[in-house]
Amino acid sequence: MSAPRKPLATRERLSEVRYEIRGELARRARELEAQGRKLIKLNIGNPGAFGFRAPEHLQRAIADDMGRTDPYTHQQGLPVAREAIAAYYARRGIADAHPDRVFVGNGVSELIDLSLRALLNPGDEVLLPSPDYPLWSAATILNDGRPVYYSCDADNDFLPDPVQIEARVSSRTRAIVLINPNNPTGANYPRELIERIVAIAAKHKLLLLVDEIYDQVLYDGAKFEPVAPLAGDVPCLTFSGLSKVHRACGWRVGWALLSGAKEIVSEFQHAMDLLGALRLCANVPGQYAIEAAVNGPDTITALCTPGGRLYETRRAVIEACEASEHLELVAPAGALYAFPAVVGAAAKGFDDHDFALDLMENEGVLVVPGSSFNVPYRHHFRVTLLPEAAAMRDVFARIDRALARRAEAAGKVVPLKAKAKSAA
Ligand SMILES: Cc1ncc(COP(=O)(O)O)c(C=O)c1O
Repeated sequence: MSAPRKPLATRERLSEVRYEIRGELARRARELEAQGRKLIKLNIGNPGAFGFRAPEHLQRAIADDMGRTDPYTHQQGLPVAREAIAAYYARRGIADAHPDRVFVGNGVSELIDLSLRALLNPGDEVLLPSPDYPLWSAATILNDGRPVYYSCDADNDFLPDPVQIEARVSSRTRAIVLINPNNPTGANYPRELIERIVAIAAKHKLLLLVDEIYDQVLYDGAKFEPVAPLAGDVPCLTFSGLSKVHRACGWRVGWALLSGAKEIVSEFQHAMDLLGALRLCANVPGQYAIEAAVNGPDTITALCTPGGRLYETRRAVIEACEASEHLELVAPAGALYAFPAVVGAAAKGFDDHDFALDLMENEGVLVVPGSSFNVPYRHHFRVTLLPEAAAMRDVFARIDRALARRAEAAGKVVPLKAKAKSAA
């Protein structure tokens, strides 16, 4: 008789990692779909899945150069693409933007992992927003670091509090992560706030890791403030790419630009280059679209202003939340998501995961529970703003129905929300 078979052990710290956006609920969604159920899936900010296409001039740029895409490129990326990225950031006011300090990756995702691998020693701490985009927490943990969260609460318009950030700095802190405009909340950080956070990084000798992948997805006149020009000599790694602003997630093109005083960043720059070399290079065809993207016409603003698809869907979400007894929303100023809170009687004993499952099984809508974004509360959920406005109105009718059932089950008359709806 052979010995009983033991399951293959995996990395222990994986038990600390979650990515619910594509997790258990998404798996259950696929099961339901296999059974013939039609679901409206709002869990992933994937423009192509909602009928968006990458701009034509980007598609053409890849097609024109397809014959040149067979070889590996330099580990940091195609020189012409890095030059275009550096010039783009120089125009934005980053004085030391240089192609040698640009790293092109298979999406921002790969570069987040790579940069934390380059930075962290076991036990080092990274200051992360709560809520966060959960890859930041996962990559910190899997690179032997420890996430330390600073809160971005709804009652402060989801903005961080610099006093709290500084209070969380310890002798092990290595970096502050900023996600601006923010996923999942849609917050857009004002200049004065960024300046205060930069000052904390300077004082405590921390690296700023700045995820600006939604930098041009802005609503209602919101003004985006890039961090690096304000950081100057303070070391800063700015991330962006083609996935969102240019609606080309599937091409897997992201980049990071390192800025800051040479004597401070050169060892880190070398580490990024080395780790980039170990994975040879990023997907090559997509890199040929970079120059066209950063030098080409603006194709996102029209979508984010009145009459534009994202703007109108966002408006539908805001109106639906205002009309609902059960929902409260800080209107997103940027990015592709809304992060409403459940309030009133429906919120009694509310569990966001439970609700997301119930909503999918009974109303055919898939959302992401708020707790997937590393928050200590369980009364929020996230939807992407990518469907058409009419589809979104239907979604929120379903959400409201599910919440009304909960309110009724809570056995109470639905109290009016704190916000002054009665005044409307
Ligand atoms: C804040 C944030 N950062 C990074 C990513 C990953 O982007 P990429 O497609 O470039 O890997 C996402 C994707 O949704 C995101 O929301």
